[in-house]
Formats: sequence, structure tokens, C-alpha cells
Amino acid sequence: MKNISGRIVNRFFGRFQHRVGIANTRRLAKAWNRVRYRAEIREVVDGYEHRYEELLKGNDPDYSGTPRNRLKDGWAIDRSGAFPGLESSLAEADRLIEERGGQDRRGTPLAQQDYLYHLSHIDELDEFPRLLDFATSSEVVATVADYMGMIPTIALNLPTGIRVFESTERFSERTTYNASQLWHRDIHDFPMVYAIVLVRDATERTGPWTFLPASVSERATRELNYQKWRQPYRVTDERMYQHVDPSERIAFTGKRGDVLFLDSSRCFHYGSRDAVDPGYRIMYAYTTRARSDFQMMLRRQAFPKQAGDSDLRRMVLGQ
Ligand SMILES: [Fe+2]
Repeated sequence: MKNISGRIVNRFFGRFQHRVGIANTRRLAKAWNRVRYRAEIREVVDGYEHRYEELLKGNDPDYSGTPRNRLKDGWAIDRSGAFPGLESSLAEADRLIEERGGQDRRGTPLAQQDYLYHLSHIDELDEFPRLLDFATSSEVVATVADYMGMIPTIALNLPTGIRVFESTERFSERTTYNASQLWHRDIHDFPMVYAIVLVRDATERTGPWTFLPASVSERATRELNYQKWRQPYRVTDERMYQHVDPSERIAFTGKRGDVLFLDSSRCFHYGSRDAVDPGYRIMYAYTTRARSDFQMMLRRQAFPKQAGDSDLRRMVLGQ
């Protein structure tokens, strides 16, 4: 029953979202989910407001208690390489690249686009469990929690919460930019934060993730009437640069281990353009428990559990 009504609701909004208006649909979903998931929301908000220190230290007794990074204007970049759990998560990604990188994945479930492949499936985390080390570390969780005002959750539905990505032009014809190569703001939740980790050095030749700060995005949103009635979800450069100077965009290039934190619901972004050299990154998506879509009616991701998991880790994994 849950699945049938879920499918009907999601199909309706999938089909008519442009007519209802993306902004209206999101507000409606958020209101519904706030009621539906009120007990869970209470736990993660209360965790942030009343049990914060205890949760962070319970997860990592050595944690200082204060995150090094704060998202300003919707983003922060950390190039220190000094994250607990970073090395072991990178090592898991290396293993995936070695086993699965550089292959033609077009037409398989792991191909998001012809130029953009997932190297791991979310249900395989049992085989690559240390990908979770970085994502559930106190430093990273605290950075996202301070921004959201609650303990965040690794996305339990779209966007897939943990992905190792390969961007490559090698197997596709270069055509006009499409899909995720075009400007957009993510719609699944607000706030929502990506922590993007470079697994290999990223240059302009590896199809870097590129974004506009939140203040610039707000201006563009207003001027484009973005997410309003009948407005398209994707925005071409031609339209965007009528309102924004190209010099205002930021390309996330850098070295292995660099991390970008970014609210992808506030900041316009695109990626995987012209990846002449393959680009590799891990993307961790954090949402609230009251998402701005109806996807939870269809599916809730189950993350691997281990004996002795801390309360913080359990909350972050939606358990
Ligand atoms: Fe996106």
C-alpha cells in the first residue's frame, strides 16, 4: 500500500512539477515530511541542541569539539588533508578505481550519464565499509551539523548518499552539455550539504565540480525566476551569464584529499564537463529528516550496522 501510494504521488509530482512549480512542490513535501517524520526530527534537533558535545565525543573521544570549517555563503573548502577517516576512505576509493575505473559503463546501472559513472553501488557498502569513516567522523558531522542546526543524515534516498564518481569523456561523443553538466540547484532537500572529496588531483581537464556561491545563486534565482511556475530545472550558460559574470563561478580543482562542503540546494552547480582526463571524487550527501521531496514514500536506504556504533553514527546513518 505504502509503495502504491508512494508511486502515485511521486509520478504525479515527477510529471507535473513544472506546472505546480518546483518551489511549491518542495514546500508542500517539506510540510508533509515535517509531520510524518516529527519523532525523528525531534531526535536530531534535540541531539544538536542538547547532546552535541556528548554525541561528538562519544563518536570520537579525541575530538576537539569545534569544527575547523564553517560554510560561508553556502560553501567551504578545506585543503589540509587533516581529517580523521580521510585516508581510509580514500584507500577504499582507490580500490574501487583500480577494480572498476577506466571501463566503458554506458548502458549499465552504474552509468549516471555516458560521461559520468558510479564506481560503487550504495548497497555494496558492506564490501567498502571504510567509505563511511570520513562521512561519520565527528569533524565532518560537526561541520554539517553547525550549518544545518541539527545532526545531519546521510541521504536515505536521492541523491544517493555515498558515491565514488568517475567523470570521463573517453567513451562518449562530445555533444552540447546536458543533464548534470548544466546549471541547477538540487531539489531533494533544503538545507542539504555535499562533502566532496577529491580522490585524484582535479584540474580543469578532469571535469571539476563548479558552483556559484549562495549569494550569487540567489541573485540568479530571482532574475531567472528559477523554480517558479513553468521554469525549466536546468539552466544553460547562455541564460546564466545574462545575470552572472562567468568570473563569479568557482571550479573545485585541487589535490587528492581536498574537501568541498557545499549546500547544493542553495548554490547553482554543474560538473563533468570536458573531462579529457578522468576525474575521481567521493560525494557524500547529507539531508535533514524532513526532505523536500516525496522519495521516502518509496525507499529508505539501510546502511550497514556494526556492534558498538556510537549514537552519533547511528543518527547520521538514519538508524
Ligand atoms: Fe546537482
